[in-house]
Formats: sequence, C-alpha cells, structure tokens
Amino acid sequence: MRRAAVIGYPVTHSLSPRLHGFWLKKYRIEGEYTAIEVTPDTLPEVLRGLGAKGFCGINVTVPHKETVIKFLDSIDEAARAIGAVNTITVRGGKLKGTNTDVYGFIENLRQNGFPRAKNKAVVLGAGGAARAVVKALTDEKFAKIMLVNRTTAKAEAIAKNSTGVEVMDWKDRAKTLSDTDLLVNTTTLGMQGKEPLALDLSTLPRQVVVNDLVYTPLITPLLAEAKARGNKTVDGLGMLIHQAVPAFEAWFGIRPVVDDDVRKQVLGD
Ligand code: ATR
Repeated sequence: MRRAAVIGYPVTHSLSPRLHGFWLKKYRIEGEYTAIEVTPDTLPEVLRGLGAKGFCGINVTVPHKETVIKFLDSIDEAARAIGAVNTITVRGGKLKGTNTDVYGFIENLRQNGFPRAKNKAVVLGAGGAARAVVKALTDEKFAKIMLVNRTTAKAEAIAKNSTGVEVMDWKDRAKTLSDTDLLVNTTTLGMQGKEPLALDLSTLPRQVVVNDLVYTPLITPLLAEAKARGNKTVDGLGMLIHQAVPAFEAWFGIRPVVDDDVRKQVLGD
C-alpha cells in the first residue's frame, strides 16, 4: 500500500485528502492520502522517517513550504525559482522537492480560459501564490507583468528576480487595467472571513480574462462582477486541482483527469 499525505500546521482545513482520496478510489489504487499535523520542530524528524514508513511522497503546506527546502536532497527549477516546495517525492530514500503551483495555475487557465494576447498581465498580491503566478506568466513569455501589492517592497523583491515585471502602488491598482489581457487576484481579499477586494473594474476591457485564486467562495465578488460585465472568468478551484495532478502521477503512476466529478468531490457536493 502506497502512502502519501499533506503536512502542515494547522492542516485540518486542507482539501487535498478529499482530492487525492477521490482519485485513489476512482483509479482503484491501493493507497492512502492523509493529513498529518507537523509542528516546525518535528519537521526534520518527520521528513527523515518518510521512506521507512512507506511514503511515496507528501504535499507541504503552511508554514513549511520554505523551511522544508534545507532538509531535501534536491529541488527542481520551479521550486528553486519560487523558493518554496509544495510537493515531495520519496525515491530510494531520497527526498526530491518541486512546486506544482506554477503548472497548476497555467493549466487551469489553459483549460478554462487562456487570454487571447500575452501583452500584459496584472497580478494582485506578492505572497507565495503570486511568486508561482509570476513564474508561470514569465515562462509563458507575457511581455509585461504588472505586480501590485499593499506592501510594495514584497512586489519589488519578486520583480528584482524576474524579467518584464513592473511594480505599481496598491492605491493605483485600478489605473492599470485598461490595457491588460489578464487579471489575477492572488491576495486573500474576497476570501470568506477576509476583507473584500475593493477594485474598480470600470476600465477593464471586455476581452480580459479574470482569474481569482480564492476559491472560498467559489464565485468571489471579483469574479461575479467581472462575469456580469461580460468578461471570461476562471475560478481558483481549478488551480488547486491541477496542481495535484503531477504529484498524484509521480506518487501513484497514473495521471488523473480533471473533470466535474473531482470538482464536485472537492467542493463536498
Ligand atoms: P499566499 O501564500 O497564498 O500568497 P500570503 O503569502 O499570506 O499568501 O499573501 C497574502 C497576500 O494577500 C499578500 O500579497 C498580502 O499583501 P501584503 O504583502 O501587503 O501583506 C495580501 N493581503 C492580505 N490582506 C490584505 C489587505 N487587507 N489589503 C491588501 N492586501 C492584502
């Protein structure tokens, strides 16, 4: 029986067990995927014990995505570029780290609404999710990425390590929408229990694709407003599901299909 899990602290909110559990059942794989609470001080010992306990891999969530790197045998280019690991594969006792958020973000757009042009993307936020989005859009060769964050210094740190990324003041965020092809919200604004994202969409052209990484609620006020204006909208649940695809394949040997069934399962419908 192959074992996988998500480690984090706290970890109870994670939707990954539901997601991987659904695919394990669907593809009749003898395996399990659990959620394990791991405190920062027990992290090294948990990682060291993975091979002996029969784990083929784990997902890593808050607060371990960055600190985990120093305990791994290797990391790939995506993880290095972002400075964070969300997926570990255990092979021959060696731990290899990757970051599948870059893939998950772009694949979700590809399946649900890729912008018609790649002249400009506006990215709101400058946390871990924004780093993955910026890396994906840079790989896709977007000519310009406008990064807008409440704490400008964090956006500037990302821009310094990327090409084609410009930084704009948070208060000016509505002013950069009129010539963009894509708008992505990576902040936590609009999430259940958080403040709303105050953003004036009146200058947003109709052909712009709007993607919110927030998926609780699934249709955020940003997506609802954009949709009402006639824009193509892409929700954040797709990224969560797509980022799990390469992990599941690496651990269990089958590339799972992303369809409505898995979306319903993750939503608990
Ligand atoms: P993640 O790893 O999901 O990206 P994060 O690193 O906590 O999460 O980043 C959260 C993002 O939401 C940040 O860009 C944060 O802005 P700051 O860098 O200024 O903290 C943004 N955010 C959270 N609350 C916000 C608020 N009230 N107004 C504006 N931005 C906010």
